Amino acid sequence: MKLENKTIVLTGGSSGVGFDLLSRLVEHNTVINLSRGAPAIAPKVDNAGLEHIPTDLSSAASVADALAKIKERHSHGVDGLINCGAVQFLPLFGADDFDHSSIAKEIAINFISPAELISGLLEGMSQRPEAFVLNVNSGLGIVPKRESAIYCATKAGLDNLTRGLRAQLSHTNIAIQQAFLPLVDTPMTKGRGSGKITSASVADQIIAQIESGRPDLDIGKVKLLRLINRISPFLANRIMQKGES
Ligand SMILES: NC(=O)c1ccc[n+]([C@@H]2O[C@H](COP(=O)([O-])OP(=O)(O)OC[C@H]3O[C@@H](n4cnc5c(N)ncnc54)[C@H](OP(=O)(O)O)[C@@H]3O)[C@@H](O)[C@H]2O)c1
Repeated sequence: MKLENKTIVLTGGSSGVGFDLLSRLVEHNTVINLSRGAPAIAPKVDNAGLEHIPTDLSSAASVADALAKIKERHSHGVDGLINCGAVQFLPLFGADDFDHSSIAKEIAINFISPAELISGLLEGMSQRPEAFVLNVNSGLGIVPKRESAIYCATKAGLDNLTRGLRAQLSHTNIAIQQAFLPLVDTPMTKGRGSGKITSASVADQIIAQIESGRPDLDIGKVKLLRLINRISPFLANRIMQKGES
């Protein structure tokens, strides 16, 4: 699908990978951004543009409200959905700084809201000539690290959800795609990790993936991680659990 004159819902466009996706897509498309903060980019006034719907992805009511607004403004459906917004809480279970309530919050933002947005936008997308859902995943959805157990579990769940929906929708006009990212230099990874790649290069690769229709894309070091995990899941676990996060 050529990403031109399309209407695309994007979560997490206010920061990091989402911001770089938004900056590129908004040049030739209408992007409906769902995040709490507004993206620091000037809306364009010609046939392309940016719509920001302030949304808290941890709240089912806020996601439902965003869906209602999208359907009201775009009654003929949208062409695509990119689930990019996410959080990663680092404290270990049982540690003094571990917040019990963060469990439900992290699952809601990273796993429930993508599922609800897909469900809510599906009927409209089925009216378009072609449409896509792209879920932004992580190498940690393939092999978990020691910290961020809930984050890793939400990304593994997102992978399963993506593959299940792909099977359900295989005979429709809707492509279900997924990109697995390595460590990327964004606010999410500020002050930790090394050898990070830029969010700009990730955004370029995701856009090329959507345009090519490729179902799954492993970016950077995720290619090697998946290979090692195929040959020896034990070794892959050891590498990830001893590595930098
Ligand atoms: N950075 C990495 O190394 C890395 C590696 C693998 C995968 N990923 C994945 O890449 C995607 C983008 O991550 P990033 O590194 O670009 O993160 P980021 O810079 O921290 O941006 C996270 C985005 O999620 C939004 N968000 C967080 N909580 C929200 C909430 N309650 N309601 C609505 N929006 C919320 C934020 O918007 P507001 O704060 O304005 O609400 C922000 O736009 C995520 O899916 C992440 O899991 C990242």
